Amino acid sequence: MMRIEELDTPAVVVLLDRLKRNIERVQRLIAGQGIANRPHIKTHKIPAIARMQLDAGAQGLTCQKLSEAEVFIDAGICDDYLLTYNIIGERKTDRLMQLAARVKRLAVVADNDIVLTGLSQAGVRHGSDVPVLVECDTGFGRNGVQSPEAALDLARLAVKLPRIRFEGLMVFPNTAPRTQDFFVRALALFRDAGIALPVVSGGGTPALNRLADFPMMTEHRAGTYVYNDVMMVHSGVASWEDCALQVRATVVSRPSPDRAVLDCGSKVLTSDQYYVEHYGRLAHYPGAHISALSEEHAIVDLTQSAARPKIGEVVDVIPNHCCSVSNMNDEIHGVRDGLVEITWPVAARGKVR
Ligand SMILES: Cc1ncc(COP(=O)(O)O)c(C=O)c1O
Repeated sequence: MMRIEELDTPAVVVLLDRLKRNIERVQRLIAGQGIANRPHIKTHKIPAIARMQLDAGAQGLTCQKLSEAEVFIDAGICDDYLLTYNIIGERKTDRLMQLAARVKRLAVVADNDIVLTGLSQAGVRHGSDVPVLVECDTGFGRNGVQSPEAALDLARLAVKLPRIRFEGLMVFPNTAPRTQDFFVRALALFRDAGIALPVVSGGGTPALNRLADFPMMTEHRAGTYVYNDVMMVHSGVASWEDCALQVRATVVSRPSPDRAVLDCGSKVLTSDQYYVEHYGRLAHYPGAHISALSEEHAIVDLTQSAARPKIGEVVDVIPNHCCSVSNMNDEIHGVRDGLVEITWPVAARGKVR
């Protein structure tokens, strides 16, 4: 077996003991609420890791894009999927129906009548029902109907349209108190209208600490928790010791006492910042952070770090956003006790359609 030091840099590694611990901890948390765990594969994009999540007790998987679902369904690891994306146009809805025919359940979301009507027409063309959840926006400002009343209106249409099987509601991410307020009102409206909600699907890793605040959910979709990253530490749901994914990078220059330059730039880490400062931390140099990125260079600010890496040294970077690191790299090395146990191709990397 190869030693970790033998990996050429930049290299993305996953600490397997942490990965396993993260998967088991979150499975326990979600099962402890008596709801289903439906992890989102967007973080790892690797069927073997999804297999670990399913073996730990996950009920099914979540994918964002059809092409991601294709990779996972080809891998044959699971037959219960939720696709959390509006699927538009016959080219895509035909692919959806072909995929759906290969598994027990492939549910999809919709947040408007055009998507819903297209799904219904696809169901009629292919002679099978399409399970649908109505996506709700409870403050994130992305897709989703804007009010419980709009959710009910769309659900009424879903119930009427041929070949649509209305299953319930979906939201991302669960936030307090807006998601609760929205769903408490929605549940009352649906009850009064006599429309059942067998599935209420919530999501997000930061919400894992507060699952009990969302008693209306029947399932939870978390993704980032498998690896964790600077954002998750910042949001208080993970510690640095929970960060399983790290980028090994070589210090290629020390142009000044306060600056180091690494051989991983935005091509490896992405320039995602989201709600955290800087572009990543150095695991073994507290206070050191990546202050700027160009495509092949990461600039490390060492002003707050007592210890300073030398030219030629290999350091471990904890990225801001591990999901997009997966999308940037062909392979990920699973490491335990300093040995590279396995190298996984990131099978659903770049699957954007
Ligand atoms: C629709 C949806 N569900 C679930 C998740 C998983 O969220 P997290 O990565 O915070 O665990 C995401 C992440 O982007 C998402 O877009």
